[in-house]
Amino acid sequence: MNKKKLLVGIVAAGLAVSLAGCAGGGRGADSGSGDSGGDNSGALIGVAMPTKVSERWIKDGDAVKSALEKKGYKVDLEYADNKIPQQVQQVSNMITKGAKVLIVASIDGGSLSDQLDSAAAAGIKVISYDRLLTGNENVDYYVSFDNYKVGVDQGTSLLTGLGLADADGAKVDGAEPKTIEVFAGSPDDNNAQFFFNGAMDTLKPYIEDGSLTIGSGQDQFTQAATQQWDPATAKARMQNLVASTYSGGTKLDGVLSPYDGISIGIISALEGAGYSDDALPIVTGQDAEAASVKSIIAGQQYSTIYKDTRQLADQSVVMADDILNGKTPETNDDKTYDNKVKVVPTYLFQPVTVTKDNYKEVLIDSGYYTEADLK
Ligand code: BGC
Repeated sequence: MNKKKLLVGIVAAGLAVSLAGCAGGGRGADSGSGDSGGDNSGALIGVAMPTKVSERWIKDGDAVKSALEKKGYKVDLEYADNKIPQQVQQVSNMITKGAKVLIVASIDGGSLSDQLDSAAAAGIKVISYDRLLTGNENVDYYVSFDNYKVGVDQGTSLLTGLGLADADGAKVDGAEPKTIEVFAGSPDDNNAQFFFNGAMDTLKPYIEDGSLTIGSGQDQFTQAATQQWDPATAKARMQNLVASTYSGGTKLDGVLSPYDGISIGIISALEGAGYSDDALPIVTGQDAEAASVKSIIAGQQYSTIYKDTRQLADQSVVMADDILNGKTPETNDDKTYDNKVKVVPTYLFQPVTVTKDNYKEVLIDSGYYTEADLK
């Protein structure tokens, strides 16, 4: 049955399809539809992750793989070393191998359009993992954190660290004005703009009333962006900012950083320019990566945003499993994530701000890290 669909799948994927994946019994023939009907137990699921350079993606990949395997699925987990052509190839291969669902954390959200078309033609459902796949209608679900809120939390913790807001984020009257710089993430990652907007909307009233100044004047996303979230790129920009703006005695009080790796680059530039630990500005971050939590404990980085990758991984697996069992996955946001072609049904989790004051409770008591991980 369903020969036509099978044929479409093979043609669309444009290949000498692994007959093992698509033929050989009822399941293969039926599962061209990918979303219901046939017995999809033990089906192959493709999981594409961007890079192993950042620890969070390793945790994500491991968690997704083990949760899928617990449910009896086969898993093709691939990392693309932050190279777009490599990820394109990996996703193409997953389709060729007969994956029934793809779980994709992209490098460039707009670079996988051909693969998304092939997947749809073959009846393969696609879950966009943490980073939204853009510019294509064949994105079935999105699972992430509230990315605007991540930015708000980064902005709020910067204000709190600077003494301009209290612990609840309320403005402290009469506080001394402060000088900051702002960094943003990669322009090809849909999240980067959400983080930046959330943070800048939070800082804006303080900039407008003069309690906060961006010393270099570089307040636009394009000026602040860091291609591929690269720590070395951020470090070089921070070195330039120190030379252009802070060599004549102006004090740098804070730096908005969207991601822990970038924070490490920023802190390294500042230390290279002679800042001692106790003179470092307030630096934010994201992901609660072990190196940055250690830096927070040591009093260098001020804060990070914890996003429990276990929650995200589990939810993506629940979604995949629902799809393969003919159920409609649960979502909790069906309006925010417009990928330029459609609004993608989304499941969002909430981020948590971490500082020296609460890291034990948030990161250790929850089992995300052991004490030893952070030594
Ligand atoms: C993720 C962040 C991460 C950044 C860099 C974003 O898409 O949402 O958690 O810090 O990529 O890897």
